[in-house]
Amino acid sequence: MKEKLDNIIKNAQAELSKAENTKELNDIRQQNLGKKGAFTELLKSLGSLSPDERPQAGKIINEARMMFENMLTEQEKKIKSLEKQIKLSLETIDVTLPGEKSSIGSAHPLSLVRDEIENIFIAMGFEIAEGPEIELDHFNFELLNVPKGHPARDMQDSFYVDETRLLRTHTSPVQARVMTTQKPPIRIICPGRVYRFDEVDATHSPVFHQCEGLVVDRGINMAHLRGTIDVFAKRMYGSKVKTRFRPSFFPFTEPSAEVDVSCYLCGGEDKNCRVCKGSGWIEILGCGMVNPNVLKMCGIDPDIYSGFAFGMGIDRITTSRYTISDLRTLFENDMRFLKQFQGL
Ligand code: PHE
Repeated sequence: MKEKLDNIIKNAQAELSKAENTKELNDIRQQNLGKKGAFTELLKSLGSLSPDERPQAGKIINEARMMFENMLTEQEKKIKSLEKQIKLSLETIDVTLPGEKSSIGSAHPLSLVRDEIENIFIAMGFEIAEGPEIELDHFNFELLNVPKGHPARDMQDSFYVDETRLLRTHTSPVQARVMTTQKPPIRIICPGRVYRFDEVDATHSPVFHQCEGLVVDRGINMAHLRGTIDVFAKRMYGSKVKTRFRPSFFPFTEPSAEVDVSCYLCGGEDKNCRVCKGSGWIEILGCGMVNPNVLKMCGIDPDIYSGFAFGMGIDRITTSRYTISDLRTLFENDMRFLKQFQGL
């Protein structure tokens, strides 16, 4: 028995010193301590010894086994640290390699202009509200005083998803949504994407962007609208510009107006101006006092509250701001075009 054990230990020692990795180590563990391992077999053979011999034999087997286990742990430590060293040496970073340049993109011109508009109104105390692009007819038309069959629907033909839902034709449904869920005072702008059944050309796109504004409170009148728009125009186009209001019509505002800003480039002096085409004015938005019917339909008492609303096209402002001659370039994502806005 003693001899057998010495042999096992000798063999194990030899094997262990040859082992180079964890797998080999595990194999050796299995060969000796596993179900059919050398130690296990020996322990099994204890049954064939006489009861007197058994305790003594068991003891030496266990001692040898402990010895083997110690050797195994020692070797395991060595191998682990070796493996770690190899791993670390493979993972070293060569700091002299040239770095990988990550190219930083730039904001899209539409986003630049939208941010600018947002900042001007946020500074005046407005909050930003959002709504879904697939909108209910109810909010896009009905609550805005445009019932079924109203001729204003023709001008805003759109893509219908089903009987009740369509791609919103303006950002005005957001004002209806806000009025039905919030109590005055309300002071919001809602920038967003809108859709109309328009043929694509240099100045039209079936997808474009608007920014709607809405103020509802006690005692709001046309002077507030006039002042707000004038401040906006001066911050957007420069302190020298003037604004003018022309009477217009929108079903959801009464009275309604269209607003022109005096040409920020030529000030009306250049008959061939590329921005105002010599007229001296640029149309920037539609607006008006919120129609009392709209207030009522949205659950706001028009005898207590009044409000104004306005809506502008972000795409047009963008094309004139950066002298972009073709609206389509805003949607084509041509890197040569977009790169020109880097750093703005
Ligand atoms: N929603 C209108 C449009 O798309 C613009 C507008 C908004 C006019 C608010 C008046 C008041 O044409």
